[in-house]
Amino acid sequence: MNRTYVVTGAASGIGAATTELLRAAGSTVITVDLHDADIEADLSTTDGRKNLVDQVRERSGGRIDAIIAVAGLVAASPVTVGVNHFGAIATLEGLRPLLAGSDAPRAAVVASLAALEETDPGLLEALERGDESAALAEAERIGTDTTPTGSSPIYTTTKLAIARWVRRVAPTPEWAGAGIALNAIAPGVIETPMTRPALDSAEGRDALDAGAPSPLNGPAAPPAAPAALLAWLTRAENTHVTGQIVFIDGGAESIRRPDQV
Ligand SMILES: NC(=O)c1ccc[n+]([C@@H]2O[C@H](COP(=O)([O-])OP(=O)(O)OC[C@H]3O[C@@H](n4cnc5c(N)ncnc54)[C@H](O)[C@@H]3O)[C@@H](O)[C@H]2O)c1
Repeated sequence: MNRTYVVTGAASGIGAATTELLRAAGSTVITVDLHDADIEADLSTTDGRKNLVDQVRERSGGRIDAIIAVAGLVAASPVTVGVNHFGAIATLEGLRPLLAGSDAPRAAVVASLAALEETDPGLLEALERGDESAALAEAERIGTDTTPTGSSPIYTTTKLAIARWVRRVAPTPEWAGAGIALNAIAPGVIETPMTRPALDSAEGRDALDAGAPSPLNGPAAPPAAPAALLAWLTRAENTHVTGQIVFIDGGAESIRRPDQV
């Protein structure tokens, strides 16, 4: 069955691997990114988000089968709030009406194992209220602070907030009630341009390993691993998995909080 997917962050890393996998299986993929994509849109801006929805509507004829929101960045900067949280939600909510014509509509977003690290309560509260200008101000306040494991609390907090958003909205009439499965994946360390600078030094590898110990098949999975998970979650055969945060981390989450089930 030929399905039409929209993949954001498709020019690199996990988004590129997902696009490649879906196209190899015969699906149509409309790619979105800042550059090297069918639709070039900056998801940190209102104009970019509108452009994404308008162009997907035009290119798809108003009907898509799945949305995979991968675009994100790790920078200790307010733009991370704009892309990782509000850009992802604008993608998912903005394109949701175009899923109405599909007989197996699905959606997925990429959160992170980093959501288990220290987060910032002020930023989390602004994100959960959906107040973008307050959240951007909180990110300015946080600046380049780091968590004990060296991550930016801006990054960790955006990833916790998007995971909680998925849990909140997935079972609602707009999503589950419309037959749309909505899930997040939470990768540990994936070998992409995002992690390359850290993976390139012994110190960086030790820091990543401390935050994301991976007894199954070692650290730094290839992007094909999360791509396959995203592809399954958004295929027609996923009829009943929704509202889940699926960790793909070689065992790190089960080490870090074994009793949380
Ligand atoms: N690599 C990892 O270890 C890892 C772990 C956990 C979660 N993640 C998440 O996976 C997702 C993909 O990361 P990746 O490792 O493939 O990184 P990547 O840097 O290889 O790819 C991210 C893509 O997002 C795009 N992007 C960034 N800002 C954008 C904007 N304003 N508008 C549109 N597109 C934009 C970039 O251009 C890039 O192509 C991110 O959300 C990231 O937080 C990655």
